[in-house]
Amino acid sequence: MNTAVPQTEDAGAAACAGPTDALGTSAAQARSAVLEELIRTDPGRFRVLTGDRPTGRLHLGHFFGTLHNRVRLQELGVELFVVIADYQVLTDRDVADNLLQHVEELVLDYLAIGVDPARSTIFTHGAVPALNQLMLPFLSLVSVSELNRNPTVKDEIAHSRQSAVSGLMFTYPVHQAADILFCKANLVPVGQDQLPHLELTRTIARRFNDRYGAGSAVFPQPDALLSSAPLLLGTDGTKMSKSRNNAITLAATVDETARLVKGAKTDSERHISYDPATRPEVSSLLLLAALCQGRSPEQVAADIGSAGAAALKKVVTESVNEYLAPIRARRAEYGQDRAHLRAVLSEGNERARAVADATLAEVRAAMNTCY
Ligand code: TRP
Repeated sequence: MNTAVPQTEDAGAAACAGPTDALGTSAAQARSAVLEELIRTDPGRFRVLTGDRPTGRLHLGHFFGTLHNRVRLQELGVELFVVIADYQVLTDRDVADNLLQHVEELVLDYLAIGVDPARSTIFTHGAVPALNQLMLPFLSLVSVSELNRNPTVKDEIAHSRQSAVSGLMFTYPVHQAADILFCKANLVPVGQDQLPHLELTRTIARRFNDRYGAGSAVFPQPDALLSSAPLLLGTDGTKMSKSRNNAITLAATVDETARLVKGAKTDSERHISYDPATRPEVSSLLLLAALCQGRSPEQVAADIGSAGAAALKKVVTESVNEYLAPIRARRAEYGQDRAHLRAVLSEGNERARAVADATLAEVRAAMNTCY
């Protein structure tokens, strides 16, 4: 695997996008277009690390936001590592109390959408000691004030139900750097909210190399591959999220889907049109139907015309149910075979451990701490 992905002039110019672009979104977008071209011509140069917190079943927002993209990359021939971030949810008691179940639900969702364990590695970071050990030298390379400035962590702390911020919560972006760097991933498909974490990962890689690399790079500086998927709203018109009870999960039944869509917020105008700025709820439903049908939301809107919100919801329900039918069938089938699920996970963990052990050995050698 060649980890050196050349920087281009385009990306360099976009990196000067200006102060309003606080998360570096437009630079990441420009760079992502360049990366997509490189993936098409030479997928073998990339190793992707991506993952999720095991907080329950995945929903359509996850699917069209990132899951779909992972399978696409896998099918293009990119090597894929998928981390189930079990240590990242320890601070949420409700979730942590049912961790095993949540982890298995994630594995089921992955298999159902087509992550192929023969080609891709699904693992839980809690089962990979050497990965976690990387966290200590990495912590030594970042300052408390840098951690304090992370906008995503700030936001999560503001919305968390915890009365106090734990050390794990505060430092989880460093742990995430270990998730990415243990396997020397050079590409991380992310949504905008994860860009600060990726920037920190790049900083840690750079500082480690400068300090211990003796002229050669132990770690690559991974690129963000920004998802171009538009944002789907939940059925209440706010961000689709499990904790807001407004999400259609991949595993939902046909009837549950119909009920959720039926209860979705719309507006009082009968004519259905795609206009995300002024009609966010109607537009998000159109977008969902369009993504499922492989057409544009404008086309779906034109079909419905002045038939009103009820007709729109009927189209959405049918489109989602039809699109998810094969995924749901596979999910049900895999769900019958717990032993297979466990085998997928234990084989993935074993593979991840071998990779992490090799990286830690290199890190020890670079740090001159082989005793
Ligand atoms: N924090 C990510 C999320 O909430 C999950 C995650 C953990 C992750 N480790 C990662 C994502 C490493 C990308 C790379 O979705």
